[in-house]
Amino acid sequence: MRPNCFFTILTIVLLAYSCEQQSSSSAGFKDDTETATLANVFEDNFYIGTALGAQHITGENAKATELIQTQFNAITPENIMKWMHIHPGRDSFNFDLPDQFVALGEANDMHIVGHTLVWHSQTAPWVNDIADSAAMAAVMEQHINTIMGRYKGRVHGWDVVNEALNEDGSLRESIFLKTMGEAYLKRAFDLAAAADPDAELYYNDYNLCEPAKRAGCIEMIKKLQADGTKIDGVGIQGHFYMNTPSLEEIEKTIREFSALGLKVMFTEVDISVLPTPWGLRGADVNQNFEGGNIMDPYQEGLPDSVAVSLGKRYADIFRLFLKYDENISRVTFWGVDDGHSWKNNFPIRGRTDYTLLFDRNQEPKVAFDSLMVLKRAE
Ligand code: XIL
Repeated sequence: MRPNCFFTILTIVLLAYSCEQQSSSSAGFKDDTETATLANVFEDNFYIGTALGAQHITGENAKATELIQTQFNAITPENIMKWMHIHPGRDSFNFDLPDQFVALGEANDMHIVGHTLVWHSQTAPWVNDIADSAAMAAVMEQHINTIMGRYKGRVHGWDVVNEALNEDGSLRESIFLKTMGEAYLKRAFDLAAAADPDAELYYNDYNLCEPAKRAGCIEMIKKLQADGTKIDGVGIQGHFYMNTPSLEEIEKTIREFSALGLKVMFTEVDISVLPTPWGLRGADVNQNFEGGNIMDPYQEGLPDSVAVSLGKRYADIFRLFLKYDENISRVTFWGVDDGHSWKNNFPIRGRTDYTLLFDRNQEPKVAFDSLMVLKRAE
């Protein structure tokens, strides 16, 4: 037997044993029944969220709907509240799916997150034609007031600004920076604070576990805070890989953002098991590469060894989340199941990735079990 194979079987046996131990345990644990879910196992620690596509909001798949209602207690719209969808023309808004999304969250008593108000990507084309500061400021005001006003008191937290930073920590040359300068950041948060004073306001970005980008983010937030801007939390997207970022960097990230007095959230968690095009570690949705089979090795299914490694990686990261649960208010997965994950199409289109806790048939994976048993070890 190859050593790899031996360790895989050993790990599966150990995981199975620990699940067995869990189900036969005495009362007192929230995870000791057949019906234990992520949301109730981590209830005392943080919200467990998921991102919903349009298909989940309209309820096309009964099994996915059941997962959403039972496993999660927070929801974020994956695309339907982005500028190009919700505000496609200067004076036209599309509230059909967003209304249904909010109603779904309310019907299930969930923590509802709005994503996202000010972002350079997936804007409507007409926004990119705006050339001067006053015009952009007026449009931003209309955008934030109309959308947040409609859901005032119903959407609990908003990603007000998304991805304003470059990898070196400097400010990204977005259409907002080009037209309004750095002042757009404060303007966006101030408008949001006025539109719904009770909503939590977040800055959200990827690669915040990378030291240079994180340092830039901290500097940006400190400036906003020094100017009296209301900002309640930072969203660390968490598009992770099997080997990066390191647990040390994730821990530093939690500590450094907590030190700013912010709630820390992991807002778009997924772990890709696929190779990455050389040098790409980000989540810039504008990057795409051509790929062959070497880049898409698991089209026929996820080997047990990789499923177990993914479970271990998830468990390592969640152990850290539990250690800092005083600082972390929410952990949201970027999708419901592997078939839905955007990573099947990013950064290479048409691959088969296995990023989440539920498989393509909405069945729990080894990674799900590895998180469900975690709390028993506390
Ligand atoms: C992604 C969606 O998941 C995809 O369906 C869409 O095609 C592109 O955007 N950072 C973000 C998210 O803030 O909104 C992005 O979502 C992933 C990266």
